[in-house]
Amino acid sequence: MTDFDENWELATRAIRVGHRRTPEMEHSEPIFATSSFVFASAAEAAARFAGDQPGNIYARFTNPTVRAFEERLAAMEGGESCVATASGMSAILATCMGLMQQGDHMVSSRSIFGSTTVLFDKYLARFGIETSYVDLDDLAAWEAAIRPNTRLLFVETPSNPLTALCDIRALADLAHARGCLLVVDNCFCTPALQQPLALGADIVIHSATKYIDGQGRALGGAVVGDTKLVGEEVFGVLRTAGPTMSPFNAWIFLKGLETLKLRMQAHSASAQALAEWLESHPAIERVYYPGLASHPQHELAKRQQSAPGGIVGFEVKGGRAGAWQVIDGTQMLSITANLGDAKTTITHPATTTHGRLSDEQREQAGISQGLVRVAVGLEDLADIQADLARGLDGL
Ligand SMILES: Cc1ncc(COP(=O)(O)O)c(C=O)c1O
Repeated sequence: MTDFDENWELATRAIRVGHRRTPEMEHSEPIFATSSFVFASAAEAAARFAGDQPGNIYARFTNPTVRAFEERLAAMEGGESCVATASGMSAILATCMGLMQQGDHMVSSRSIFGSTTVLFDKYLARFGIETSYVDLDDLAAWEAAIRPNTRLLFVETPSNPLTALCDIRALADLAHARGCLLVVDNCFCTPALQQPLALGADIVIHSATKYIDGQGRALGGAVVGDTKLVGEEVFGVLRTAGPTMSPFNAWIFLKGLETLKLRMQAHSASAQALAEWLESHPAIERVYYPGLASHPQHELAKRQQSAPGGIVGFEVKGGRAGAWQVIDGTQMLSITANLGDAKTTITHPATTTHGRLSDEQREQAGISQGLVRVAVGLEDLADIQADLARGLDGL
């Protein structure tokens, strides 16, 4: 049995919370590859199903390996409750289904992951949930967009791929003053760099697929918050609809969490150096990185995050042709839309992650054709830089 000591710091929580050792006395967390659990008697089965007795029932909503991951992530985010899901998108879907109903309205930052926009505009809209979009750093716009039926404010900070920030505490204060909940997608920072609940957010969402895994192996997601909102409402959607994380993936994420703090520090250090180098390169028009003094919210980033993170966006000369030339000029970097991997990835947001947006939506989100996004990995910085230089020097 792991005793969770409330005084433990983040890295200790990431390694020690959640593992209840079995009688086999294993040191590493076991994978419970079982879909159902056995009861000692019919009476025990009845008590479990009725919720009168705690314990495992069926792996759609109870599995010890998944629960270990949930407890560990909750402890790292400082939340009472966590629900693990099959992907980041299903974490967002389960949150919206659990906390909203037909006729509700939501305000979202414009600069969110492309599939999240499609989920809101195409699918939630079909069920009578309407979304308005605002610039994430314009507090007055958030306030103006709130209506009497607004239930949620949804934000990603830093945003993908322009790394714009929103002041979480200010937005949480606004949400609560107007009777709304604040949901923060904390995928880019992870709890290693930013803890939105401590800043007043009500719900934190993760795509565990990204930095929590850290090596691009598995899809997963999570929702963290208090017992009422997450432990009851979001959990109810998971139990009933079943967007469940597999025990094997939960085990991968448990292992990922153990090294998360170290990795996030290393991603950030390399990204900072790379952003500074890019800023001085003649083929670059603009670099987006919260660790640069030129970033409009550099001071907020220093206050809100313990490090700037691993994502660097930059605009190159020559629009789409220039961006594609840079991407195709690399030999080592992986041309893929994923991020948060030990391997550095490079992508053209306008035609990949944000390709399903209309031209107008893309323009409003500030995603130009010349924009390139690099998710800086853990290779030696000199090799990442040399590979990017191959593409850039030809421009
Ligand atoms: C910020 C953000 N949120 C959510 C998601 C969705 O996560 P998943 O791919 O695990 O469904 C992604 C990326 O894919 C993302 O970048």
